[in-house]
Amino acid sequence: MRPFSILAGLALPALSIATHAPSTLDEDSSTQLPLVIWHGLGDDFERDGLQEIAALAAKVNPGTYVHLVRLADTGSGDRQATFIGNVTEQVAAVCSQLAADPILRTAPAVNALGFSQGGQFLRGYVERCNVPPVHNLVTFGSQHNGIAEFQDCGVGDWICNGAEALLRAGRWTDFVQSHLVPAQYFRDPVELDAYLEHSNFLADINNERSTKNTSYKRHLAALNRFAMFMFDEDTVSVPKESSWFAEVNVTDGSVIPLQQRPLYTEDWLGLKQLDEQGKLDFKTIPGQHMHLSDKVLADAFKEYFGAIKDSLPSSPGLVVQQAS
Ligand SMILES: *[C@@H]1O[C@H](CO)[C@@H](O)[C@H](O)[C@H]1NC(C)=O
Ligand SMILES: *[C@@H]1O[C@H](CO)[C@@H](O)[C@H](O)[C@H]1NC(C)=O
Ligand SMILES: *[C@@H]1O[C@H](CO)[C@@H](O)[C@H](O)[C@H]1NC(C)=O
Repeated sequence: MRPFSILAGLALPALSIATHAPSTLDEDSSTQLPLVIWHGLGDDFERDGLQEIAALAAKVNPGTYVHLVRLADTGSGDRQATFIGNVTEQVAAVCSQLAADPILRTAPAVNALGFSQGGQFLRGYVERCNVPPVHNLVTFGSQHNGIAEFQDCGVGDWICNGAEALLRAGRWTDFVQSHLVPAQYFRDPVELDAYLEHSNFLADINNERSTKNTSYKRHLAALNRFAMFMFDEDTVSVPKESSWFAEVNVTDGSVIPLQQRPLYTEDWLGLKQLDEQGKLDFKTIPGQHMHLSDKVLADAFKEYFGAIKDSLPSSPGLVVQQAS
C-alpha cells in the first residue's frame, strides 16, 4: 500500500489508461485516499480534539492525508463561521478550497467525514460540486432532516447566545436565513410551508421543492458508501433521528423512517438507489451528541477509510465500449 501523494496524482492519467490494457495485476497495489473532515457547530480547525482525530485517522490507515475544512485563517474566525454566515456561500468556499488543494485536487477521490452540521454541509459539497469526488461519506450526529429545536448555549457564550436569540425571533426572514447557520437547517414539520419557501440550505439540498436538481441525485448516488451514525442518547440535536433522515411527528412523537418518506420512495436524492445497492448504512452509537470514543472512531475509520485497490476509482467514462 502507498499513501496518495502529489506524485501519485500526477501519474494517475497514465495509470487509469493502463488498467484497461491487458496487464498483470499487482495484488498489493492499493491507494490510501485523502480524508476531508468538516467539524461541527462551535468547533474550529485548531482544536486539540480535531487534531487528535486527524492523527487517529492517519494511525488507523497509515499514509492518510487529512484536510480539515476551515472557513477562516484563524481558529476563532473559523469557529465564528459555524454560527454566522450564508451556508450557500460556505459550501461554495469549501468547493473552491478542496479544488485548489494540490493534493486533494489530483487525488482520484477523497473520503469525507462530517461531524454534526459538518455532515450535512459535506453532503451539500457532494451534491453541488464533488470535485474531487467523494468515495465514502461518513456523518456523525448530522442533521440531515434538520433540527426542530435550537440548542441551548453555554452560559457566557455570547456568539451562540446572540445567534440563538435572533434565530428564535426571525427564523424565516432573509436576514436570518443568510446570516445564521443553524437557521439554514431548521425544519419543523409544523412550519413546513414557511420552510419550503424560505429555507436557504436544507430544503434545497434535500430536493424538497417542486423542481428537483437532478445533479444532486446523480452525485449522491455515485457514492461508494454513505454511513450515517446516530447517537443513541442525543438530546442536543433534536430530533436525533434526523441523523438518519427520519422525520418526527411532533404531535405524538412518532418517527417516520426515511423509507416511508417521499424523499425515499420518489428517490429525490438517490438514497433509495444507494440503499438498494447496500451502500447506505444506518448506524447507532451509544451516548450523547458528539460524545465519541476513540474505539468508535477507529472502527469507523477501519471500515470506511481503508486503502482501496487502484482499479476501483477509475471513472466509468474511461471505459471504451467495443463496437459490435
Ligand atoms: C443544480 O445544482 C447545480 C450545482 O449547484 C447548479 O449548477 C445547477 O444550476 C442546478 N440546477 C437546477 C436546475 O437548479
Ligand atoms: C446566500 O448566498 C447566495 C449566494 O451568494 C445568495 O444567492 C442568496 O440570496 C443568499 N441567501 C439569502 C437568504 O440571502
Ligand atoms: C402526527 O400525529 C397526529 C396524531 O397521531 C396525526 O393526527 C397526524 O396526522 C400526524 N402527522 C403526520 C404528518 O403524519
